[in-house]
Amino acid sequence: MTEPIKQLRELVDQSERIVFFGGAGVSTESGIPDFRSTGGLYHQEWKYPPEEILSHTFYKSNPEEFFRFYRAKMLAPDARPNAAHRKLAEWERQGKLTAVITQNIDGLHQAAGSRNVLELHGSVHRNHCERCGKFYALDEILHTQGVPRCSCGGIIKPDVVLYEEGLDQDVLQAAVRALMEADMLIIGGTSLNVYPAAGLISYYRGDRLVLINKSPVGRDLDARLVITDPIGQVFSQL
Ligand code: APR
Repeated sequence: MTEPIKQLRELVDQSERIVFFGGAGVSTESGIPDFRSTGGLYHQEWKYPPEEILSHTFYKSNPEEFFRFYRAKMLAPDARPNAAHRKLAEWERQGKLTAVITQNIDGLHQAAGSRNVLELHGSVHRNHCERCGKFYALDEILHTQGVPRCSCGGIIKPDVVLYEEGLDQDVLQAAVRALMEADMLIIGGTSLNVYPAAGLISYYRGDRLVLINKSPVGRDLDARLVITDPIGQVFSQL
């Protein structure tokens, strides 16, 4: 066991209110590309920049193209949780972890058994009719073409936070509370480039901050430990 893994294990052993804050890098070992790594979604050739397609304005003005991109690139129904998702769920069962705060919309933390998952950017598994509010599961989007329509005729909108849209206030408040009460914060698989999500970590006041990320992140961190190995590989050794 390498020294950093040993140090991480010791910090985890000392903690009983761990919070995990993660992003797309947590799911890359489950086969879902991230956004800003080389080869990530934002580095591929598209007719429009993905950040433009994934915006409220574009969704309203060009729903056909939005749903074509969304089905092609944002859904990964065959992806399965990896060791990172599984370890976090185990820590929650052991009463060591209080919350997973994620920017991901893939539902893999819940698929691994995590219960308190704060999805800052929503989930592909929740979809609602814009007109009557009827709920639809992911299947409805997966198994239809073009702009998905409700039985009432309204458009079925995925419950994912698009650019220009606000985050759910209840989720934000729960995330702030968890971070303020945490005795350890593990940040993993995120470039910390997108606000307000990235700004939330300022609410953590403890001195056990660990960063597990392959590349440097978009803001200064007073991290006790920085590990640049793949996070699934790291968690499989704990
Ligand atoms: N292990 C550790 N780190 C990894 C791994 C891995 N297996 N794979 C990728 N990474 C790191 C990358 O080096 C990168 O710094 O994860 C980070 C992923 O960063 P982004 O691609 O920017 O993803 P994320 O931080 O989640 O983006 C935030 O941006 O477009 C919006 O809404 C979208 O939720 C997303 C938000």
